[in-house]
Amino acid sequence: MRPGQQMLCELRTGWTLCVQRRSILSSFDLPSTMTIIQQRWKHKGRWAAGTTKIKPSTLAMTAFDGIYGNGPYEKNWKSIRLALLSSQKYAAVVNNYSGNRDTMDTFFRELGALPLNDYFQPVPEAPIVKELSKDNPTADSGVEESLHDRLRKMSKRVSIRARDEKSVEVKAEEESKEEGEAEEPSEFMPASPVVEEDIHARPDAQPRQPRRSEVTTLIPDTSVLEIPQYLQAYVFPRGDVSRFPAPNYDRTGFCDYYLMDAASLLPVLALGLQSQDRVLDLCAAPGGKSVSILQTMLPGEMYCNDIKSARVTRLTAVLNSFFPMDSADMENMVKITQRDALEWGNFEEPPFDKILVDVPCTNDRVSATEEENNWFTGRRTGERNALSQRQMDILMAACATVKKGGTVVYSTCSLSPLQNDGVVHMAMQELRKQHNIDMVAVDTAPFRHAFKLVYRFHESPDLIYGQVILPHIPRNFGPMYFAKLRRVS
Ligand SMILES: C[S@@+](CC[C@H](N)C(=O)[O-])C[C@H]1O[C@@H](n2cnc3c(N)ncnc32)[C@H](O)[C@@H]1O
Repeated sequence: MRPGQQMLCELRTGWTLCVQRRSILSSFDLPSTMTIIQQRWKHKGRWAAGTTKIKPSTLAMTAFDGIYGNGPYEKNWKSIRLALLSSQKYAAVVNNYSGNRDTMDTFFRELGALPLNDYFQPVPEAPIVKELSKDNPTADSGVEESLHDRLRKMSKRVSIRARDEKSVEVKAEEESKEEGEAEEPSEFMPASPVVEEDIHARPDAQPRQPRRSEVTTLIPDTSVLEIPQYLQAYVFPRGDVSRFPAPNYDRTGFCDYYLMDAASLLPVLALGLQSQDRVLDLCAAPGGKSVSILQTMLPGEMYCNDIKSARVTRLTAVLNSFFPMDSADMENMVKITQRDALEWGNFEEPPFDKILVDVPCTNDRVSATEEENNWFTGRRTGERNALSQRQMDILMAACATVKKGGTVVYSTCSLSPLQNDGVVHMAMQELRKQHNIDMVAVDTAPFRHAFKLVYRFHESPDLIYGQVILPHIPRNFGPMYFAKLRRVS
């Protein structure tokens, strides 16, 4: 090739990349300038036929490398990435309704798995407050006077990375501050990479970006953090990558255990279920978390809902293989519904004590490893861009349905700060603005202590509302995010 000659490279997209050269190419001589010429390839059909498409899982990984690898998870990204692409570990949740139930403990121990309870570290003291707000009207009616006083006194500074990547100090409410004093408008980002993450955001999501002046109080959890007595889950110890065999069916046709990502148990535990609670699993299919909730034997009434009929069919099949759904007790207790969460308010249902909102998300592990119906295929771009808005709408619908003093747990299996803390923050803002509904975030930090032997939790001051479980080869669970909200008014 002569100096100045243009080298035309074919790109998958049908655009032409023109590399202008000043010197003769040698193996060490890189092009000095590169420009994209926006010109349609004339023989697109023939050209396209001879090229291989980039796999959606590769597109997903490229997006994750850019968003997560340079953002909130930068320090651990290599190990998270490796774990995402490696075999996931599971938990086996014992079916209390199976005839094999009494043999399960020996069975799992012989495999080398131990009850989740064996790894559980009781939380030594009352949870601490992560941060207090400037303007939050959410004095928690359910919190005792002394505790509330304590919260007010525990103002502390937290450092939150701002849009310009500088560190901005967010100061908690000063005791001396006059009520109603004007706030300085300022930017609050719940996690630094929200802006970079516009790949997930639809164009008009920008006005919904949280502001620093809206920083919200986290209140201590008044419910005891524990594993309910009848929820028997087994996991292999850290570093043991053994796999559970497929579950069996007993003589009456019930499955003896349910295999699920062990991180999925945390949103269930975060519900803080109490005996006779009225519970709604708003996005329930295929049913892993519903099965776990029902195995606690605590709900007095439980609704398992999903929007899609095929998914409801799957959910029904799963519940049928774990519970005697046609018995009078179960018929009274468990209701399977096919409703759009956004229309829940149109049904005359009494409010719920506890609602689990396990929203559709980019499902990062699946996106990184599976091609079918991958979120990162071109045809799903619009859907993906609208995802955080959809998640927020579903969360808001749940908050409008829970009773005052009731609990909503929001969860995703994505690492995306926008889909996680971002959605929680925006939903709380919008609920207050649009519906006069006050939700307050409950501090879930005690989970990090209680389950540190099982999961790798993301530790970052940028993570405000919830907890993130990071995939890691020796304990390859997640990703999972959960946040716990309580309705105040
Ligand atoms: C992440 S999956 C739930 C997984 C389930 N919680 C489990 O543990 O097996 C999200 C579910 O939300 C459902 N979904 C999406 N939009 C919904 C809506 N507007 N109302 C109710 N369900 C919805 C999807 O059909 C999908 O089954």
